[in-house]
Amino acid sequence: MCADCIHYPNWTDAMMITLPPELITYLKKATRVAALTGAGVSQESGLRTFRDAQAGLWAQYRPEDLATPGAFARDPKLVWDWYAHRRESAKFAKPNAGHYALAAMEKYIPEFTLITQNVDGLHRVAGSMNVLELHGNILNVRCSECGTFDDNWGDDSLAVPRCKKCNGLMRPDVVWFEESLPRAQLDAAVNAMHTCQVFFSIGTSGVVHPASALAHAAKAEGAVVVEINAEPTPLTAKADFAFHGKSGEILPDLVKAVWGG
Ligand code: OAD
Repeated sequence: MCADCIHYPNWTDAMMITLPPELITYLKKATRVAALTGAGVSQESGLRTFRDAQAGLWAQYRPEDLATPGAFARDPKLVWDWYAHRRESAKFAKPNAGHYALAAMEKYIPEFTLITQNVDGLHRVAGSMNVLELHGNILNVRCSECGTFDDNWGDDSLAVPRCKKCNGLMRPDVVWFEESLPRAQLDAAVNAMHTCQVFFSIGTSGVVHPASALAHAAKAEGAVVVEINAEPTPLTAKADFAFHGKSGEILPDLVKAVWGG
């Protein structure tokens, strides 16, 4: 455990956090803030994180073995079904207090950029506006051959749907391992990292590049780096402030402590 970090003793003891006064000052003065979020932010909405064990039928597979172009080429139906299962969970999930606190933060900070690795779309549902979805959105599909999007593809289909334009197989509009991130989103995220005064890393294990490199680069460029995560990560030792606990509890407390609500 890092001696300088604030750790909740256990989940149920979580109470209004006492923020270090320097952090309150930084945040009150900040006009440009960036926040990177990962699967941990949606954990309290009932969605499994990436490195949690998969449930039921899917327990025998590792996400890293399904979320690849090679896996889709070998067995499109298997990969499609796994995403159909994840899409169902995402569709019924509701934003939690952490998502809402980030949407509130955007109202207090003139330039607030929310960079997410999550594909569940919950930040927008919570009201966040300036959201960069680095890994795509699981609710959208596009053709694996010609890239055409389809808003009306009938998600009750058991077979992998076909593209209406070129008959190619449709795939979820998410970034798989070995694929590049969407250029415009990545450029905007890098720009936010360059210009921000405070950079938050929230609910992410910080092991998947290039997203994980953003916090380290922000620190190198002089931003104040704040980590909020259930457990320490490779970023913890470099962060200026680290809070270890549930983001759905810490973020609302932080917003209340800095802006009063
Ligand atoms: P991970 O599953 O790697 O990490 C989630 C982190 O959230 C872990 O460090 C948990 O300790 C933490 N966590 C869990 N519950 C939490 C809570 N309630 N509050 C705060 N933190 C909590 O997920 P990501 O870091 O998002 O990429 O993974 C990054 C990328 O790796 C994913 O987008 C995906 C994956 O492979 C692709 O699919 C390309």
